Amino acid sequence: MEELVVPDTSTWTTANRLLLTGATGMLGVHLLAQALDDHSDLEVVCLVRASDATAAHKRLADLYRWHFPDSAIGASDFERRVRAVPADLTRPRLGLDRAWGGLPDSCDRVVHAAADVRHVAAREEVFAANTAGTERVLELCSRMSVPDLCHVSTIGVAGHSADGVARTLDEHALDVGQTPSEAYSESKMAAERAVARFNTDTGGACVMRVGTVAPHSVSGRFQRNINEHFFSRYLRAVLRLGIATDWPDRGFRLIPADTMARAILALSGQQAARGRTFHLQSPHRLSHGELVRRVNDLGYGIRLVAPEDFADRVMAIGERTGLDEEVGRLLPMIDRGASTPVTLRHEWTDAWLARLGLSHPRPTAAWIAAFVRHGVDVGYFPAPHTDH
Ligand SMILES: NC(=O)c1ccc[n+]([C@@H]2O[C@H](COP(=O)([O-])OP(=O)(O)OC[C@H]3O[C@@H](n4cnc5c(N)ncnc54)[C@H](OP(=O)(O)O)[C@@H]3O)[C@@H](O)[C@H]2O)c1
Repeated sequence: MEELVVPDTSTWTTANRLLLTGATGMLGVHLLAQALDDHSDLEVVCLVRASDATAAHKRLADLYRWHFPDSAIGASDFERRVRAVPADLTRPRLGLDRAWGGLPDSCDRVVHAAADVRHVAAREEVFAANTAGTERVLELCSRMSVPDLCHVSTIGVAGHSADGVARTLDEHALDVGQTPSEAYSESKMAAERAVARFNTDTGGACVMRVGTVAPHSVSGRFQRNINEHFFSRYLRAVLRLGIATDWPDRGFRLIPADTMARAILALSGQQAARGRTFHLQSPHRLSHGELVRRVNDLGYGIRLVAPEDFADRVMAIGERTGLDEEVGRLLPMIDRGASTPVTLRHEWTDAWLARLGLSHPRPTAAWIAAFVRHGVDVGYFPAPHTDH
């Protein structure tokens, strides 16, 4: 195990302008907010998919206000410090036209959080955004006077062991003989290989393999496209069908987007982070049973049944209610676990975080309640039967 480096003074203090990709995403908008909040002199240039600069700025500003209606960053501060540039990972030179030449000189740090995160999608589409797109970001970084990139990857690169052999992935390895679970993870592995080549040739990049991005730690607010995330889809199905089960060895490891963003910026601000990879994974497992108990405390009446009865009970409820989509969400969970997962180690990153005074929060009752309230407010979750 590589020795721990004592954190230096954050290099953020010398950064003037950050180039951020993926700012219209769940993690990206929290990276933007955190960067603006923490570093009052920092400007942020965001690469945003849009037809022109005006549309890009409007998309970003609207989303920022939706997530942070009470932000201390007022509209004029936002206008002054944030610039949205239309761009697309899949286009030559990121579709930047003239900005391609100037950005490497005017930005001193890059955080690349954009990705096509669809787990079910055409292979060439996710590779175009995630692998070729990252290569374009690397090309841009190679023209900075001091290349400085934080590349956001996924713990999904751990994949699974197709041959059933026990494998472990720590922060210092990428290929351990694992099999990617889908094209998305494979494209992110290929992107990491490109980052590794960049570090050999040029240097200056770190990789954050992140776990499940979850609702805000206080407001419970989740991504605007709430139906796109497996956790909210799962919970909606449970709330609508009124049934769940508890698998003894399964659960959710969730990291609120704001605490994830804080950790990414703190780690990537360390000079010693260059050339290294980190695993941002929560040590806290929220079991299916605990989740049900928490939501029942809010006035829902979810029945927790034995795993062996679950499939029959779910299908019976589906037949009675016609909630086929919800049934379709829960049934595939029953067969999961057939392949051997690769064990992901994250103690080394946890120790870095501890030295920076950071840790991943436990999923508290208050946080789950805030998320459920948010889901009800946006019309996604059914309201509880009784008010608590
Ligand atoms: N969410 C998770 O639980 C999770 C877990 C592990 C790793 N990650 C990683 O975390 C990062 C952020 O994910 P997220 O959860 O914030 O995803 P997200 O909410 O889907 O956001 C993805 C962002 O990437 C942008 N993007 C996608 N394709 C693009 C393209 N061709 N050109 C330019 N921008 C493009 C999106 O722009 P539009 O708004 O225009 O679509 C959006 O800003 C990704 O690198 C992802 O692989 C996420």
